[in-house]
Order: sequence, then C-alpha cells, then structure tokens
Amino acid sequence: MAPRITVIGTGYLGATHAAAMAELGFEVLGLDVAPEKIEMLGRGKVPMYEPGLEELLRKHVAGLEGSTGRLRFTTSWEEVGEFGDVHFVCVNTPQKHGEYACDMSYVDAAFTSLAAVLHGPALVVGKSTVPVGSAARLARLLTELAPAGEEVELAWNPEFLREGFAVQDTLRPDRIVVGVAGERGEKLLREVYAKPVGEGTPFVVTDYPTAELVKTAANSFLATKISFINAMAEVCEAADGDVIKLAEAIGHDDRIGKKFLRAGVGFGGGCLPKDIRAFMARAGELGVDQALTFLREVDSINMRRRAHMVELAREAVGGSFLGQRVAVLGATFKPDSDDVRDSPALNVAGQIHLQGGQVTVYDPKGMENARRLFPTLAYAESALEACRGARVVLHLTEWGEFRELDPSEIAAVASAHHIIDGRNALDAAAWRDAGWTFRAMGRPRA
Ligand code: UDX
Repeated sequence: MAPRITVIGTGYLGATHAAAMAELGFEVLGLDVAPEKIEMLGRGKVPMYEPGLEELLRKHVAGLEGSTGRLRFTTSWEEVGEFGDVHFVCVNTPQKHGEYACDMSYVDAAFTSLAAVLHGPALVVGKSTVPVGSAARLARLLTELAPAGEEVELAWNPEFLREGFAVQDTLRPDRIVVGVAGERGEKLLREVYAKPVGEGTPFVVTDYPTAELVKTAANSFLATKISFINAMAEVCEAADGDVIKLAEAIGHDDRIGKKFLRAGVGFGGGCLPKDIRAFMARAGELGVDQALTFLREVDSINMRRRAHMVELAREAVGGSFLGQRVAVLGATFKPDSDDVRDSPALNVAGQIHLQGGQVTVYDPKGMENARRLFPTLAYAESALEACRGARVVLHLTEWGEFRELDPSEIAAVASAHHIIDGRNALDAAAWRDAGWTFRAMGRPRA
C-alpha cells in the first residue's frame, strides 16, 4: 500500500508540498498550529500569492466539488500520528532577531510535538533549511521522545523551490537530495518521489550533514553569483561599461552560464539573505568561519546596492529628498510573489522616507503585506497613481506590468521626468524617446 503522508507546517513550503504530494497520488494530511490557516486551506484558499497553487489545492482538498479528496488539513497532532507513515516537517527557520543565526524554535517545537504521537514505525523527513548538525540532533530527539523509539527514522530532504515557481519546482525538481542514516528512509523516499525520478530527476543520497549543507551551499552560490554581477555593475558604472552586455558575454561560457547574473538592486526574500547569514554563524560555531568570510562580502555588496539606489534617487531629485515626491514601483522581493520579506524595494522606499522623501509605493500583489510591514509609507492603487507628482520614479521589482507602462502616459502625471531602473528590465529607448532621463544600475548614463 502506498505510504500515507503528513505535512507539518502549511506555510509557503508546506502548503505547496502537501498539494504536490496529493497531485502525485498520495493521501495527505497537512497540519498547522494556526487554526485560521487550516480553515482557509480546508476551503481550498491559499494564504499567499503563488501561481498555480490554489488550482492544485482545489483539485485535491477533500469536500470541495469535483476534488480527488486526497488532501485534508488538521490542527490535531494525534490525528497526524495515527494517519501518517511519512511525516514531512516544513516549518520555517527565520533569522534570529538581531543575530545572524537562524531561529530553530519552530523546528524544535514541531519535532517535539510530532515525536509524542509516533506510536509505531514512521519516517520523519525534515525539509526546513537548518544549520548543519541539526538532523543528527533531531534524530536523537525523535528516538528519545517517540513512544515507538528506534522504529522512528529520520531523513533530511532539503527543498530548493523558488517562490513564483513553487508548484512546478516541487513537481519537477532539478534534483532530489536525501540525507539518510538507514535504509528505510531511502526506500520510502524513492517510493514517494518515484514519479519525478522516473521522469529523469536525479536522486542523490547522502549522509545528514551533506544533505543539510547542499541547501546552504546552493543558496550561497546563488547569492554569490548575484553579488558578483552586482560588483561588476559597480565597476561598470565607474568605468562607463555596460553590465548587461558583460553578463551576456561571460554567460556564453557554459562554465559560467547565463542564469542568476541579472544586476540590479540585489537579492532579498525569506531565503537567500538569512541563509547566508545563518551559514556564516554556523561556520563560526564549527571553528571554520574563515572558510565563509567571502559571504560577508556577498552580503555587503548586496546591501550596498540598496544604498546606491538611494544615492541615485537623491541625485535625481537635486541632492535632498526633503519635500520631494518619489514613486516606487514594486514592493515584493521579486515578481510573481506577494512576499515582502527583506525586500530591496521596500528597504529603499523606507530609507528615502526616513530621509524626508514623500514616497508612494505601488505593487501588483504585495500591497497588503507591504502596508503591514511599512504602515508609514503612502500606497497607490496603480503605477500611474504612484507616479502622480513624482520627481523621480524608481523601478525596483520587475513585474511584467511595469514593462507594459506607457512612458508618455506616466510623463503626463509626473512632475519631473527621471526614472531609475533598479532591475534592468525596462525598455530604456522607449522611456528616453518619451523625454525621460533614464538611468539603470551598472549601465552607461547615455
Ligand atoms: C531562492 C532559491 O532560488 C531557491 O532555490 C531556494 O529554495 C530559496 O531561495 P527565492 O527566494 O524564491 O528562491 O528567489 P530567487 O528567484 O532565487 O530570487 C532571490 C532574489 O534574488 C530576488 O530578490 C531576486 O530579485 C534576486 N535576483 C535573482 C537578482 O537580483 N538577480 C538574479 O540574477 C537573480
């Protein structure tokens, strides 16, 4: 009989994973400690914006018209213990307040509650991004606390999904990595992932520490690529070079590749920034902090992008933001998401606000979250409204709808015609033709 699956934690990762497991044909039970989330998911509603996820939920959530009924949600740990053969733990590991290290309290709480209800053989699978060494500690905790003791096995199966592509990344991942300490873990996970593996997804089996490190190493590499190209952008600006051409030209070398070389205002979000910091903190504990000193530089190049954007904007408004209207297009950390965690766009907006600028923000999907995080900023209902009376327009998240804007229409409502493209995604010629001074990060002034 196919293993029955539970998913602990129904945030970004968990909700997507639960729906994807149901799509693969398994009976799935999702648990969250927040009853309001469970209530929403039970109605087939998603607490965040993620293309395709709501459709997938509606297809499987029990009780919804025409659904397969394979997916249910609960707040009861007992139910989880009785139901599942394989338990995926998908709770988050945010950055600790005021520290680089990550906060393991949600993971620890989830493992403790889960262990208490494991009365028979079970496989627990950690998916959260954790400091290396956590899996070994959590495996001991399970054996100690679970009534079933040694019959409970742990595997570590990091998740590489990108927001905005969460569904496709989960159903058709680039690779599946599983860190195991016993044979049962590998066997069961091969069964769970039989479909993507059958379609050619590589299945990499490792020990616990390697599996944990694969995730942090991958995110560190991606962050390094972005900061590398942004460092080149700094040099290009000083030397009148063009970072876009440079990225294209170096990307033709397969060893370098074209992806993740988009220069601009830098990376943000709930993963890359906190993961590189937590990785540095963990390296320090392990006595190998020197090995990751370069990540400090990756982080500071990234933060410098935001400061540089503020500088460019200040220059455009004549040297001081006091009393000046500034339009900010974009609030989320990237397009096709409503996530504003560590968003470069909002950080820049916040800095300008603090320096006396009158900032108006517009974002297609992130307004609600942005308002919650930065209630003192002004928000507009459209890009056009945000630009009304603006002395400078900052393009900080590359939503498709911003590429479609008509520069002449915006020119008619703005009070001066300066635009700065912080994502190198707008059509410079079209804006210049409509009379705008167009600046882009890492590109010649023209
Ligand atoms: C990232 C990883 O890609 C994913 O594998 C991991 O599981 C979680 O972290 P995500 O945070 O969803 O995913 O976003 P991603 O698409 O990687 O972008 C991260 C940030 O980097 C965004 O702010 C984006 O705008 C920025 N970025 C990305 C650039 O500035 N330049 C690039 O070339 C690529």
